[in-house]
Amino acid sequence: MTATDLLKGRGVAALLGLDWPIVQAPMAGGITTPALVAASCEAGALGSLGAAVLAPDRIRGEVAAIRALTRRPFAINLFVLDEPDRFARDGEAEAMARIASWRARLGLAEQQPPARVCESFAAQLDAVIEAAPAVVSFHFGIPPAERLAALRRAGCRILGGATNVAEARAWAEAGADAIVAQGGEAGGHRGTFVGGFEEGAVGTMALVPRLVDAVDVPVIAAGGIMDGRGVAAAFALGAQGVQLGTAFLACDESGAHPKWKAALAEADARGTRLTRVFSGRPARGLVNGFMEALRADEATVPVYPVQNALTAELRAAATKAGEIEAMSLWAGQGAALARPMPAAALVARLAAEFDAAVGGLAGSADVAGAAGAAGAAGTAGAAEAAGAAVSAGAPRQGRGTRA
Ligand SMILES: Cc1cc2nc3c(=O)[nH]c(=O)nc-3n(C[C@H](O)[C@H](O)[C@H](O)COP(=O)(O)O)c2cc1C
Repeated sequence: MTATDLLKGRGVAALLGLDWPIVQAPMAGGITTPALVAASCEAGALGSLGAAVLAPDRIRGEVAAIRALTRRPFAINLFVLDEPDRFARDGEAEAMARIASWRARLGLAEQQPPARVCESFAAQLDAVIEAAPAVVSFHFGIPPAERLAALRRAGCRILGGATNVAEARAWAEAGADAIVAQGGEAGGHRGTFVGGFEEGAVGTMALVPRLVDAVDVPVIAAGGIMDGRGVAAAFALGAQGVQLGTAFLACDESGAHPKWKAALAEADARGTRLTRVFSGRPARGLVNGFMEALRADEATVPVYPVQNALTAELRAAATKAGEIEAMSLWAGQGAALARPMPAAALVARLAAEFDAAVGGLAGSADVAGAAGAAGAAGTAGAAEAAGAAVSAGAPRQGRGTRA
């Protein structure tokens, strides 16, 4: 058996009808073009359409375009949100004043408050149920039970995003087919919906085994996985699938601006951090001028989706002008490892590199043997430490940790 046999058709690949247990992450905002989704699917992975900011008719259009390119299973992803009229609109005048100079620089007229701050989640979900894709995934929360039941009746498998144990348990109870464990390294918006964002930014290395132990549902690891080494690490932690965003963002078919793709290579110089200033919800992106300029306003900008709506025109104008310092350059901590190539080549590379990573571990049997002997000698100490962790478990889970 080659190492690839450990991956091909295994884990969530069997559950979702894929060749590989690899998910091309949904990325809202025009990145997950029909070409990217279809190419990922044709390569045997699960392509995902990030539909969070699309009007229902646009969702229908994108689905038709994907279906014209592939007959394989694909996913549609939504953000679970209240209806647009439920969001408090106070603080908008101050928020608009903060970005006025950035708008002027891009030649935009004086800003009027947006008519509404997001699409209707109910109407988006109606469009998704009608489209009946093989898989539907959710970020930011759990839809009402009757809506999940409607998706199941339409034949959809459901993936729920979780950033901590409480969220994973809630998704398991809601009947998710698999849970996407979003580690703190991940690019884009934090999915946290139970507890605070800081405590919810647990790294993938710690989060995946926590969720694997906590729920009986398969876990898909997300956050910082850029190549086959990351895939192997995720499976070693007990994941049954991986979801990669930043790695697919760099692919030829992705709709990200070429300058955004190029900036991934400078990720070590720019760094990434979580910011609220673009959208009102913490999201990880490459540091740029807009993030730096509004740093003092991190705590006071309006919540998502209000701030997102207030900066929408500015971000669109920045993209049109190729003004990288005013775009939201979402990317994960692994960004510098991104490699431009077609999505099919990336999927094939991930599988080959997984093989090399696992083969490399097997090949380093001497090291493994030495580590095993050391481990056996330290067993009593390890058991003691484990006992201490269990007894301290409850308060620790309740408290969380933060930097
Ligand atoms: C540009 C970008 C946009 C994203 N948009 C979404 C989205 O619309 N829905 C979603 O569930 N996750 C979204 N994510 C998060 C991914 O699902 C995933 O958690 C993340 O990309 C994994 O970390 P990585 O970027 O290090 O691979 C986005 C990520 C990026 C980089």
